[in-house]
Amino acid sequence: MKAAIFVEQDAPLVVEDVTLDPVGPGEVHVKWVASGVCHSDLSLVKGKLPLPPPAILGHEGAGIIVGIGDGVGGLAVGDHVIGVFQPTCGECFYCKGGQSYVCEKAIEIGMSRMPFTRPDGTKPFAGPGGLATFAEESIVAPTALVKIPSDFDMQQAALIGCGVTTGVGAALWAAKVQGGETVAIIGCGGVGIAAIQGCKVAGAKNIIAVDPQASKRKWAEQFGATHSVDPNETNLLEYIQGLTEGRGVDIAFEVVGVPALQRQAYDITRPGGKVTWVGVPDISAEVSIPAGLIVLQNKSIIGTMYGSANVKEHMITLMEFAKKGDLDLKGMITQEITVDDINDAFTAMLQGDVIRSVINYDA
Ligand SMILES: NC(=O)c1ccc[n+]([C@@H]2O[C@H](COP(=O)([O-])OP(=O)(O)OC[C@H]3O[C@@H](n4cnc5c(N)ncnc54)[C@H](O)[C@@H]3O)[C@@H](O)[C@H]2O)c1
Ligand SMILES: [Zn+2]
Ligand SMILES: [Zn+2]
Repeated sequence: MKAAIFVEQDAPLVVEDVTLDPVGPGEVHVKWVASGVCHSDLSLVKGKLPLPPPAILGHEGAGIIVGIGDGVGGLAVGDHVIGVFQPTCGECFYCKGGQSYVCEKAIEIGMSRMPFTRPDGTKPFAGPGGLATFAEESIVAPTALVKIPSDFDMQQAALIGCGVTTGVGAALWAAKVQGGETVAIIGCGGVGIAAIQGCKVAGAKNIIAVDPQASKRKWAEQFGATHSVDPNETNLLEYIQGLTEGRGVDIAFEVVGVPALQRQAYDITRPGGKVTWVGVPDISAEVSIPAGLIVLQNKSIIGTMYGSANVKEHMITLMEFAKKGDLDLKGMITQEITVDDINDAFTAMLQGDVIRSVINYDA
């Protein structure tokens, strides 16, 4: 079976013919139908997020169960599923307390899997959540899957695996945007466009899209932004102050993963407002924030993992929004590709040619 392998930091992925172990007790064999290409995969390739090569990445996928090991309840062969890149054990302090997005077993469940063998005999890690959606099939933990209705489009379901849940969730479940509020989204890629859609669902009055790429600003407006601005051409703070009687936005989202932009999100947020960080900078990076002003101006900084979504419930909610027409997931798939095109998809992402590239394994 084909898989794109991360062989070396900063190098292109290499497509190889790998073999998959048989499904064992407590495991599920999934054939992926579709996988989105998220910026976090590129951050892993660039070493910004730690995962040693060789590894099979890909964490935004939807597929069909083709095999089940002994002792797995609640799932059956033929079920349609979305992969969960932050598996949820259902039993730890966080899962029981309604914060499954920081499940204490997530890393252990997701990063302990090595079901693939490469032609040279080595065994790569299976990437975020153990999903490895850049392979045609995988053996995953049942806690890394959410069963979904079989009539939902699988390409669109794949996007719910990461970008849509993260972006919409950042608006609805992390920042809890209220009707009539003014928000800014710094970074309008796949996750940022989803955040814009989430703000629209929440009834935000003004949605200000900030992105240096003209293509992204145009898409942002199509998906619900009321204003768009190029931060390289315009002084963002002055622009925001001009729109908000000098106050700043109620909520600013940073959806790029750059400390200077996290700080910019802080600067453009009004006193009493919420600064919401979605992008993931280099794991060793730090950011400077005015220590006194954050108190005196009563600002909150919210970091959000997976849109602070409890995936088992919230992924279904997102599908219902899409069915009602409140979310446009189809429009976010700007390019369908095969796994052979994976490196071109990273290039297209950086050049601003796509909102999301989606691998179609049935093509
Ligand atoms: N918190 C989570 O759980 C989670 C989940 C998924 C992705 N992420 C992170 O979210 C971030 C975005 O991911 P994505 O897949 O949407 O990436 P993307 O590459 O599709 O989008 C990033 C966007 O940022 C824009 N940008 C670059 N410099 C900018 C600047 N100075 N000001 C404003 N915009 C700028 C780019 O033009 C691009 O449109 C990444 O850091 C990714 O790792 C976080
Ligand atoms: Zn992702
Ligand atoms: Zn847990």
